Amino acid sequence: MRRVRKCVFPVAGMGSRFLPATKASPKEMMPIVDKPLIQYAVEEAVAAGITDMIFITGRNKRSIEDHFDKAYEVEAELAARGKTELLALVQGIVPKHVNCIYIRQPEALGLGHAVLCAEPVVNDEPFAVILADDLIDNEPPVLQQMAQVYEQRQCSVLGVEEVPREHTRQYGIVRTDGAEPGAVSAIVEKPRPEEAPSNLAVVGRYILSPRIFAHLSKLQAGAGGEIQLTDGIAALMREEKVLAYRFQGIRYDCGSKLGYLQAMVAYGRKHPEVGAAFNAYLKSL
Ligand code: UTP
Repeated sequence: MRRVRKCVFPVAGMGSRFLPATKASPKEMMPIVDKPLIQYAVEEAVAAGITDMIFITGRNKRSIEDHFDKAYEVEAELAARGKTELLALVQGIVPKHVNCIYIRQPEALGLGHAVLCAEPVVNDEPFAVILADDLIDNEPPVLQQMAQVYEQRQCSVLGVEEVPREHTRQYGIVRTDGAEPGAVSAIVEKPRPEEAPSNLAVVGRYILSPRIFAHLSKLQAGAGGEIQLTDGIAALMREEKVLAYRFQGIRYDCGSKLGYLQAMVAYGRKHPEVGAAFNAYLKSL
């Protein structure tokens, strides 16, 4: 039986919806209260038993590497001032047993291309993909739920949720009406509402069979002129089973301004340090 040990974090996108904030620093470093989006994603992967974190980076992404590295000056300063709690917080960002690996995507040619860049490190193993801008709040975390499904079923698993019909143009949309419950029978990238096979959207969580690489490497640019992961999954589906998994959790699309604000409010309200005061402030508005 195979287990998922590696997770790919594509973080080489432009983040154009958040300009000018993303002009010189990556979208994935934007904080929800006091923690950057990419750290929530890595913590979710750790909870799912992942030990190798593979970041697909591009230009302006150095702050992500710095975030997961040892920060000697910060640690020395905190130690000197006796700030032991903060020191433990900074030192505990990545558990000791976890490896961080960085691969550069030379050009932002699309999510499918970003995932293909991970092939030399993933090799012939099943692997997870997390899009850090889809922040999903749940205990147990979504990737842990999906890793359990993978362990039982030993096939690719896509995290899906229902979206309003009028939003299908923003997602990969699946059809699951075949003989086997939950098995994907069709997948289309960004269909118009009238052409969408359903309203079940793939969001930023995947567990994929390594066979996906063979398909991704043959792809031409698809929707939006990008090499689409969805097209690779459509090809994979013709030779292997791919499951759609309706996860438990509340998703915040932090790649959009509204979703980002909603996440900030939800996480602010339950934050151990400022939650009570923030709730009182919201009530007073
Ligand atoms: P998005 O579609 O959200 O694009 O990519 P984006 O560039 O990040 O943001 P906008 O739309 O311009 O505002 C989905 C995920 O795929 C990654 C992004 O970093 C994001 O996590 N990605 C996308 C890459 O790593 N490389 C690419 O070539 C494209």
